[in-house]
Amino acid sequence: MRIGVPRETLEGERRVALVPDAVSRLVKAGVEVVVEYGAGLAAFSPDEAYAKAGARLAPAEEVWGRSDLVTKVRRPSDAEIARLHDEGAAVVALVGMGPQEDLLARMNERKASFLALERVPRITRAQSMDVLSSQATVAGYKAVLLGASELSRLLPMLTTAAGTLAPARVFVLGAGVAGLQAIATAKRLGAVVSAFDIRAAAAEQVKSLGASFVSGELASAEAQTAGGYAKQQTADERGRTLAAIAEHLPSVDLVIGTAQIPGKPAPELITGAMLQRMRPGSVVVDLAAETGGNCAVTRPGERVEVDGVVVLGPLNVAASVPIHASQMFSRNVLTLVQHLVKDGKLVLDPTDEITRAMLLTYRGEVFAP
Ligand code: NAI
Repeated sequence: MRIGVPRETLEGERRVALVPDAVSRLVKAGVEVVVEYGAGLAAFSPDEAYAKAGARLAPAEEVWGRSDLVTKVRRPSDAEIARLHDEGAAVVALVGMGPQEDLLARMNERKASFLALERVPRITRAQSMDVLSSQATVAGYKAVLLGASELSRLLPMLTTAAGTLAPARVFVLGAGVAGLQAIATAKRLGAVVSAFDIRAAAAEQVKSLGASFVSGELASAEAQTAGGYAKQQTADERGRTLAAIAEHLPSVDLVIGTAQIPGKPAPELITGAMLQRMRPGSVVVDLAAETGGNCAVTRPGERVEVDGVVVLGPLNVAASVPIHASQMFSRNVLTLVQHLVKDGKLVLDPTDEITRAMLLTYRGEVFAP
């Protein structure tokens, strides 16, 4: 059983799927690990650390061509897939957004299996494999820092000889994993924090972090699926949500947008007109930029300024904190690999609840459970 860890090739991707500590655990369990030269460099895990952990360093051809399981952060390119051997290889990675037809066709040509990390089921047993949650934690934290450094005021209240400064007001839209971490981070920095979510279950969590929950009467238990995800709102619900947010926005300095609905475009919660009512000098950090954004003027990967309000649409935020993002990603992947390896062999059991949910292709065919 051989596991491969290639170097990420997407521009700006600084994470690595398995850090040396995880490699060492796999090697101790009798698994052979082959790491591409330089795979961990951008995450400050040098080749020597992998060698010390018991991995063999090798060029890309060997990592792709001779592994039973390739563990990766981002979806592999056509050229990378073409290097896989055709004797039942498997790849574990984020599939990301965008069309999947080509990816699936290339995987099938190699008779390979693809497990999408986004599809880890939301069951207690799989919680420690959930990269979306671990990376959202990093992104929620970093979003507040991005906003704080863009803001023209300080976050905490300060009483100094030069007078007293009022604390900044931070408003977090969406209180899932990223939102809750943004609330906690803004609180630690001394801001006065409020948040809004359509799921009633979020209210308790928001309040337990010391933030206020805006317009709690609009949140409901029905806004949530059995899996804990938010549902899309009706036009009427959306109208009431926008009205509540519009009323709150003129009193805040920093908005962190994290509201998302799995598989759908992010809900637009700040219209152009609402933005105009915000105080000049305020900032919106839109973490939902990748799926369309919570703000009407958000441009993915760009900084936009409208009437003195700055709107940031940062992309791949977790990759900007590569040491800890990789450490958490790697722990998730390690737990998954430990689940997939039985008696020293890779076992992809399509009847297993976790494997079934994650498989996109299985041994050369599109997987449709
Ligand atoms: P997410 O990343 O899918 O979405 C972010 C948040 O946006 C969610 O809280 C959602 O309710 C909110 N949202 C959607 N539409 C909105 C709107 N129009 N206005 C305001 N807010 C809106 O969410 P995430 O981080 O995945 O968390 C969702 C829930 O799932 C949480 O309760 C979390 O604790 C739970 N969860 C459970 C896991 C498990 O059991 N293994 C793993 C991860 C999360």
